[in-house]
Amino acid sequence: MTDTAASTVRSTDVTVMLRVNGRARRLQLDSRVTLLDALRDHLDLTGTKKGCDQGACGACTVLLDGKRVLSCLALAAQCDGRAVTTIEGLAPDGRLHPVQQAFIRHDVFQCGYCTPGQIMSAVALLEEGRAGSDEEIREFMSGNLCRCGAYPNIVAAIRDIAALGSES
Ligand code: FES
Ligand code: FES
Repeated sequence: MTDTAASTVRSTDVTVMLRVNGRARRLQLDSRVTLLDALRDHLDLTGTKKGCDQGACGACTVLLDGKRVLSCLALAAQCDGRAVTTIEGLAPDGRLHPVQQAFIRHDVFQCGYCTPGQIMSAVALLEEGRAGSDEEIREFMSGNLCRCGAYPNIVAAIRDIAALGSES
């Protein structure tokens, strides 16, 4: 079953089908709308943040078919037929994802604005097997900026989850 988030149709509009957090969504939107704006403004998924809106901060990171992307640089129309996971999709039943739990344990939150992007990036990084050392974590998280300087706590939280994985 799909649902539709549509407004008045214009000549520049396109129809886009996305699977967002496991749910089929049909959108009628301007072909120039970014995936970020589609999520925030058309689907009310405001957990994904807009920082720079030009690919420089990582606040808008989501997973597209399981791979992390900067949603401010992707057009929603280019994502037609693909699966998008946002921060809201990590805890669909209200039970926090292990990375979210680790971020809480390590007190990663300052202002929290970068946090959804950091968490989505961390989930992907762990999946990519890029958490072998603090240096590697720092390198592969370098696209996610934190103006509050929570980097040591972010690295510690990711290291925690990576260690759990290597023990199992
Ligand atoms: S908002 Fe997309 S990278 Fe900054
Ligand atoms: S916690 Fe404030 S920008 Fe990262």
